[in-house]
Amino acid sequence: MDFLELARSRWSVRNFDPRPVEQDKLDRMLEAARLAPTGANRQPQRLYVLRSEEALRSVRAATRMAFNAPLVIMLCAEVGEAWHNQNETVMHGTVEETYSVAEMDVSIVCDHMQLAATELGLGTLWVRGYDTQALLDAFDLPEGVVPICLLDVGYPAEGAKPSRLHEARKPLEETVFEL
Ligand SMILES: Cc1cc2nc3c(=O)[nH]c(=O)nc-3n(C[C@H](O)[C@H](O)[C@H](O)COP(=O)(O)O)c2cc1C
Repeated sequence: MDFLELARSRWSVRNFDPRPVEQDKLDRMLEAARLAPTGANRQPQRLYVLRSEEALRSVRAATRMAFNAPLVIMLCAEVGEAWHNQNETVMHGTVEETYSVAEMDVSIVCDHMQLAATELGLGTLWVRGYDTQALLDAFDLPEGVVPICLLDVGYPAEGAKPSRLHEARKPLEETVFEL
């Protein structure tokens, strides 16, 4: 599939068919994740595959946005492993920290997975609508591993269709500038 055709055919799915995602398709998505570029090639991403009844129950208790997806990937960052710009500091509340690219790294991983899933005929939803503490309470993550986003994955339910936001893209003149 041509790249723009692939990019156009991805849309946010919020109603899934119960049919499970085949292992070979998940493997291909995970390989796409592995190939993603990361700052200084640190590869701080940590992906948690949630598909057992228990794991899905836990994630659904932490967010309404897991919907009825048969598979949810919890994308986290081992923050200490991500590249930090020692010359730039940012405030996190009252704490001054060096600037980290952890969220960018994990976002690229998530985008690779979303597009790989689209190519495989799967639907996805990128989710940030959760409370981080609720996810930390639901799952016993290693120290220093922080959830960045969730990716709901599955086949769209019959009749599921893109929301009106899917077509609502600004013209390039509003978002691209030449300096
Ligand atoms: C960083 C990010 C966070 C998002 N979080 C949520 C979310 O929590 N819940 C949700 O329903 N959609 C979420 N979305 C999906 C967007 O709302 C959606 O991509 C956008 O409205 C465009 O629609 P489309 O994906 O169908 O083209 C998120 C998307 C991104 C990129």
